[in-house]
Amino acid sequence: MKRRKFIEASALSVVAISSFGFIRFDGKKYVGDCETTTDILGPFYRPDSPMRSNLNISGSKGKPIHLTGIILNEDCTTPYANAKVELWHCDHEGVYDNSTPAYNYRGTVMTDSKGQYAFDTILPVPYDAGGGLIRPAHYHMMVTAAGYQTLVTQLYFSGDENIKKDPWASNDAAKNRVLEISPDGRNGNIVTYHVGLSKKLNVEEASLEKLTGTYTAENGDDSLELFQKEGRLWQKNEVFGIVYDYLGNNTFEFPGLHDGSYRRLIFQNGVLKQEMFQPGSEVKSRSFTKIS
Ligand SMILES: [Fe+2]
Repeated sequence: MKRRKFIEASALSVVAISSFGFIRFDGKKYVGDCETTTDILGPFYRPDSPMRSNLNISGSKGKPIHLTGIILNEDCTTPYANAKVELWHCDHEGVYDNSTPAYNYRGTVMTDSKGQYAFDTILPVPYDAGGGLIRPAHYHMMVTAAGYQTLVTQLYFSGDENIKKDPWASNDAAKNRVLEISPDGRNGNIVTYHVGLSKKLNVEEASLEKLTGTYTAENGDDSLELFQKEGRLWQKNEVFGIVYDYLGNNTFEFPGLHDGSYRRLIFQNGVLKQEMFQPGSEVKSRSFTKIS
């Protein structure tokens, strides 16, 4: 067998044994391309939701769902034990609990030794996000695992007609996150989603500390507040904040935009530059200076 053919054949057998995603040879080792794509965090994230797998509220309406899956290392096969999985979603009327101590439809679990997580909850419903945008029904998920980039993503459901008009759910990057709802044979329904983790770009805590604080725009008509939590950079909002991924080179990016647009924070010589870009228009850039 010619060498190239042999490599192709070996690669194929590896694909066949992979439980999830695909695996390729990077010249040194097999690496997966099963990594879960990011999606926007949305404005309603709240940290420190209660440790619980059952989010059901007695007497609540809504289709019962058992959401379960495995968190996998970047090789796409080895389970990741003890990863933190946070889930949040709206109720059967499309409303998020953004303020009560009950943290309704918000919960945190840790994966077991087999990398498994599970939640018992309801199917969220589509809601009006303003500006004529109806968001398809979705779960928000954040997965935190040492050594990996914290994953911020969303899960959608097949058959939801709002998906095609939603810029995030209809994006190619979300294709594998549009999930089937399967009856469990009793009165419930199962949704399965396996997560592939992706390698982390480290930013030193000390550097992050230097970036946090309050900034005002050069012309004084805007301000923003940056803080850090668990090694990541956040920008404060009304509920808690929005999180940025580190791209390297003093640049942070708002995750989940896959349509060619981006939103970045770039730190250069004590000045914070906010860059926003949408295909078809110019890059919009604003400078901010730190005031505290
Ligand atoms: Fe949402």
